Amino acid sequence: MEGKIIDGKAVAQRIKERIKAGVDELSREKGITPGLTVILVGEDPASQIYVRNKEKACQEVGIRSRVMRMAAETSQEELLRVIEDLNQDKAVHGILVQLPLPKHIDEKQIINAIHPGKDVDGFHPVNVGKMMIGEPCLEPCTPKGILRLLDETGIDLAGKRAVVIGRSNIVGKPVSLMLLKRDATVTVCHSKTQNLKEITREADILVVAMGRPESIDGSYIKEGAVVIDVGTTRVDQRLKGDVVFEEAIKKASWITPVPGGVGPMTIAMLLENTLTAARNHG
Ligand code: GUN
Repeated sequence: MEGKIIDGKAVAQRIKERIKAGVDELSREKGITPGLTVILVGEDPASQIYVRNKEKACQEVGIRSRVMRMAAETSQEELLRVIEDLNQDKAVHGILVQLPLPKHIDEKQIINAIHPGKDVDGFHPVNVGKMMIGEPCLEPCTPKGILRLLDETGIDLAGKRAVVIGRSNIVGKPVSLMLLKRDATVTVCHSKTQNLKEITREADILVVAMGRPESIDGSYIKEGAVVIDVGTTRVDQRLKGDVVFEEAIKKASWITPVPGGVGPMTIAMLLENTLTAARNHG
C-alpha cells in the first residue's frame, strides 16, 4: 500500500480563512478585535523563529498581535508583574509565554499566573483539568491540530487502536486524552516501554512525538495505519521527523510529512484559541 499524504499546510490554510471570517464578524458585530500577546524571554534562536511565525500568522487573519521581547536576565517577579498587567488588559485576549524559559525562572509558576481564560496554549492547570473531565476549555494547540488532521482522513476513531509514543505535557498526554474522548483504545508508550515495536505494529493510528529523528522505520508500522509525525528536529539545517517517511509511506494509508504536517496546524490552532478567548471574554 502506498499511503496518501495529509497536507497540514493546506488544511491550516483553510482553517485560517475560516478564522479570518470569524475575526471580521466579531469585529463587525461586537466591535472586538482579538488580541494576542506573545512574551519571549531571552534570545533562543528557535524560539525567535517560532515567535516571528506566530506574529505573521496573526497578521494574516486580522488578530492584533504584540511581541514583548524581554532580556534573558529578566527576573521571575518582573515577568509575573507583566503577566498580571496583561491579565487585566481588556484588549489582550490571549497570552502566550514562549517556552523554554531561562533556567532561573520557574516555568510552572509562570504558567499558573496566566488567567485561564487567556491561556491560549492550554497549559494552565485549570484548562488541563477541564480537558481531563471533558469540559469545554482552551485546548493545547499541537494535540488539537493532530485531531483535526485525523479528521481530514475521514476515518472514524471509535474503537480503533491508537498508539502514542511520547508522554509530554504538551503533546503525548493531551493527545492521548483527546483520542480517548473520541472512543479510541489508547496506549501510551515512552522511553521505558519494552517491546515498543510489538505495540506499534498493532496501531491503527500511530502518533509519534518522541523528538528523536527518524527513529520509527517501516517495520514499526501496521499495514494501512494512519501515521502522525510530530517530530521536528533540525539536522544539517533541515527539519527531520521522528518517522522514516519513505519507508512509512509504503505501509501507511495516510501519513503527515515533516515539514508541512503537524507544524502549520499548531499555529492555526493558536489563532483559533485566540478567537475563542476573544469571543468568550471580549
Ligand atoms: N515552545 C515550543 N512549543 C511551544 C508551545 O506550543 N507553546 C509555547 N508557549 N512554547 C513553546
